[in-house]
Amino acid sequence: MIETVHPRVIVKVPASTANLGPGFDTLGMALSLYAWIEMSASEKTEITLYGSGMSGIPTDKSNLIYKVAQQVFQEVGVSIPELRIGMYSDIPLTRGLGSSASAIVGALAAANHLTGSKLSQDRLLQIATKLEGHPDNVGASLMGGIIVSAWDGERAEAIRLEPHPDLEVLVAIPDFQLSTDKARHALPESYTKQDAVYNVGRSSLLVAALASGELGMIRHAMKDRLHQPYRASLIPGMEQILAEATEYGALGAALSGAGPTMLALVDRRSRRKQELEQFLLTSLQHQHSGAEARWLVPCLEGPVITVPDSSEDDITLMEWIKGDITAC
Ligand code: HSE
Repeated sequence: MIETVHPRVIVKVPASTANLGPGFDTLGMALSLYAWIEMSASEKTEITLYGSGMSGIPTDKSNLIYKVAQQVFQEVGVSIPELRIGMYSDIPLTRGLGSSASAIVGALAAANHLTGSKLSQDRLLQIATKLEGHPDNVGASLMGGIIVSAWDGERAEAIRLEPHPDLEVLVAIPDFQLSTDKARHALPESYTKQDAVYNVGRSSLLVAALASGELGMIRHAMKDRLHQPYRASLIPGMEQILAEATEYGALGAALSGAGPTMLALVDRRSRRKQELEQFLLTSLQHQHSGAEARWLVPCLEGPVITVPDSSEDDITLMEWIKGDITAC
């Protein structure tokens, strides 16, 4: 057994949006919305979830963070069967903002740091992708910025792009949940050649636009025929947003991941932000549901790790992060 290196770590990990329209399961972007995970070895496993919206998440050894940490320990040959874990998240669950990817990446980063950072970023990407089933969200949460990735079921390859400094992100988060499973089941098993070529073109153009800073090209590139048309019936108002958001000042709009959150890329110098926000919220307003708007920016880095020193042992996770969180 190897000694653990640090007694307690706190990891701040960003949310993410996946697909960006045409890049189904391949493109992602880290966002300035965060979850925090603390982890330390303990006499007895104790998992505390702070904040609202966490009901239903297990607090025993079936907890995802616990299981991911054990996978890291096994891989590096360390035995830490009992863990103290705390988590607080500002990332709404099952809304298409990568909450589970953030939990996986946060758990990997915490467990890896606890055991002396033996696993490389590439190794963490491979583990995270296998757990998630696609690299878009986990890649973004792990590397920050914009991620362009590919996965063949065995290995994930990924390149990080630096987001343009003028890119701002408006998300409109509906007040209902949509499971990724349900949103993936809505997709067909196969596509026509025309639709495949359409998406290769748009996705390639989008990567080139984001890499070169040609933000004006985003409106032509952020179009998709692989998943959005099939998911539209699950999100009332989505079709209208995709069709008209650029008329209200967006650079482009997409379903965020598997939804139901809608996302618009915006030039931060735009004078039409209020108008756009209103359009998104009104479009998503239906009989029994509404939406909440959040203005975010691309997050430039992956997990940020803090190691409190022993004199700070009594400081709880919530005390530690209170200046940083957006909701209570
Ligand atoms: N690329 C995934 C999807 C993201 O669209 O289903 C959600 O996990």
